[in-house]
Amino acid sequence: MRHRREPTRNRTGWTSNVLNELSELFVDFAATAQRPVLDIGAAYGVATHPALAAGATVYANDSDPTHLAALEAATTAAHRSRLHLFPGRFPQDLDFPAASLSAVHASNVLHFLTGEELTLGISNIRRWLAPAGRLFIQAGTPYQQPFQAFIPIYEERLRAGVPWPGWIEDTRAISSHKRLSQIPRSLHLLDERTLTNLVTTSGLTVERAWTYCRRDLPRSMQLNGREGVGLVATSIY
Ligand SMILES: C[S@@+](CC[C@H](N)C(=O)[O-])C[C@H]1O[C@@H](n2cnc3c(N)ncnc32)[C@H](O)[C@@H]1O
Repeated sequence: MRHRREPTRNRTGWTSNVLNELSELFVDFAATAQRPVLDIGAAYGVATHPALAAGATVYANDSDPTHLAALEAATTAAHRSRLHLFPGRFPQDLDFPAASLSAVHASNVLHFLTGEELTLGISNIRRWLAPAGRLFIQAGTPYQQPFQAFIPIYEERLRAGVPWPGWIEDTRAISSHKRLSQIPRSLHLLDERTLTNLVTTSGLTVERAWTYCRRDLPRSMQLNGREGVGLVATSIY
């Protein structure tokens, strides 16, 4: 399928019509899920739709309810009864019973959270996941073409052991990319070390964390093959 980027309606970047490699792992796992799976920042359903098609019950969350309305409208009648919408901002507006979810998917959404929100959010996910439940994260690293000027700052912060080294207070001061108005002023770029620390501290076991260039990343964002970070973790009780 030809990759097509679709702008979000609330200026939180773009979504895609093609599953990225990490989301593909989520969909494969969702096919075997005994309990519902949660898609955080689902947008128009790039991962929710295939997870529904794989037979999962999907809790689709997004901070923009109009995204979820479009997602629901595009859901085939045969899958609607397994789709549940949860509009609201993660982590503040979401809550589920302990051990009630088989999987949580967060693709290209954790950038919009502060360090404090990430700590709260991952600890909540840990509580919501059933034993052997999985967490799937895809996020952008600082190694993307528009953020090149930030790389030395980020690497210096890494050396100095600064918590949340990828936090950019003002993207407009770092980049002059022509589509910058489609992302928020502050952005949290992540990496495998920061994510692994965060997820491990919350009590989940990291199975795999790696950097790569996801297949739907536009050429204008590509830099060196480390543009994205994927992480898969398991809940072991
Ligand atoms: C860049 S899109 C990614 C969509 C999709 N997951 C993907 O991989 O293509 C980010 C989506 O997350 C939503 N979003 C942003 N911040 C959020 C938050 N704190 N909680 C829930 N959704 C959020 C946006 O409305 C948008 O639909």
